[in-house]
Amino acid sequence: MDPNLLPPEILDAERGFPQALEACTDLDALMRVKGLYTGRDDSHAVRMMELLKVAPKEQKRALGAAINGLKNLWEEGLKARQGELETARRQANSLATSWDPDLPPPLPTRGALHPLNRLMDRLIDIFRPLGYHVEEGPEAESEANNFDGLNIPEDHPARGSADTFYFSAHKGRLLRTHTSPVQVRVLQRVAPDIERLGGIRFLAPGRVYRKDEIDPTHSPMFHQVEGMLVGHDIGMQHLKGTLAYAMKALFGPGADVRFRPSYFPFVEPGCEVDVRCPLCGGSGCRVCKGSGWVEILGAGLIHPNVLTFAGLDPKIWSGFAFGMGVERTAMMVSQTPDLRLFFENDQRFLMTMGGLD
Ligand code: DAH
Repeated sequence: MDPNLLPPEILDAERGFPQALEACTDLDALMRVKGLYTGRDDSHAVRMMELLKVAPKEQKRALGAAINGLKNLWEEGLKARQGELETARRQANSLATSWDPDLPPPLPTRGALHPLNRLMDRLIDIFRPLGYHVEEGPEAESEANNFDGLNIPEDHPARGSADTFYFSAHKGRLLRTHTSPVQVRVLQRVAPDIERLGGIRFLAPGRVYRKDEIDPTHSPMFHQVEGMLVGHDIGMQHLKGTLAYAMKALFGPGADVRFRPSYFPFVEPGCEVDVRCPLCGGSGCRVCKGSGWVEILGAGLIHPNVLTFAGLDPKIWSGFAFGMGVERTAMMVSQTPDLRLFFENDQRFLMTMGGLD
């Protein structure tokens, strides 16, 4: 643009335009600037058009182009700034309307233990007076501890890669499929000292992993609590007495328990333990599938091979063991129909979990 074509006051206005825009902090101010530059009456644009009317014929073309160029520049600048200010105003409005001085202030929500942890803690509390302490084992285990030491045969289906997560980079390592390998670890550790200790009893709570599809009653990760007692002349009567006590402590003094023969390679004899359905009291419902009983535990007397593998003489030592599914029990106690709720951590669900207290 040839500056000589435009009068000094227009050129001044053009130089001051960016600052004038910047100085607008609200839409009203911007409208005033807009009026000044491109308004219909008495604006810089109107004045330029008047100049064009009276300009000599040979200048009209160039002057017209210069004027149009300036007007476009101003209009674009005004539009962009208007967009910015409108956005700012919307944001300020939304903040302002979400604050209602009449509402009570939001109270900070209190943190709490997860219901599954509370249930495991409760079991630990139930067994503590009987002399049980807590043992832990790693979730990444060896095949030896997870299977071999538990007398699980080489061809057992649970050893297959369809059921068990194996580490591809570490041969013989896997994510434990149950908490029973803690038995192997603890027995091996205490074996040299077991005479002096006079036996051992412990609980081992923790996470376990299986290649299960996720559905309302399955998850590839869940929790178990393992229990074990080793001593002299331990028989089924000790196992039954201990578990009957624990189930009454957990489900209430009226809780009924029954023992059914079952098979696990690491116990002999083995059994499954049912409690009378805490939801229907035994008359039959959806949770107990009409039978009046729900299975809670696997248990049995420790297999001599398990003791021998760990370095204990089965002629001298005997004991019992049990394993309990935590989610399954929590679902029953709290009447939760879908196990996934325990993992989604929706606070609205967790807050209803008073039943596990
Ligand atoms: N480990 C078994 C499972 O995951 C549960 C179990 C059964 C544990 C019997 C035991 C037991 O200690 O004696 O299904």
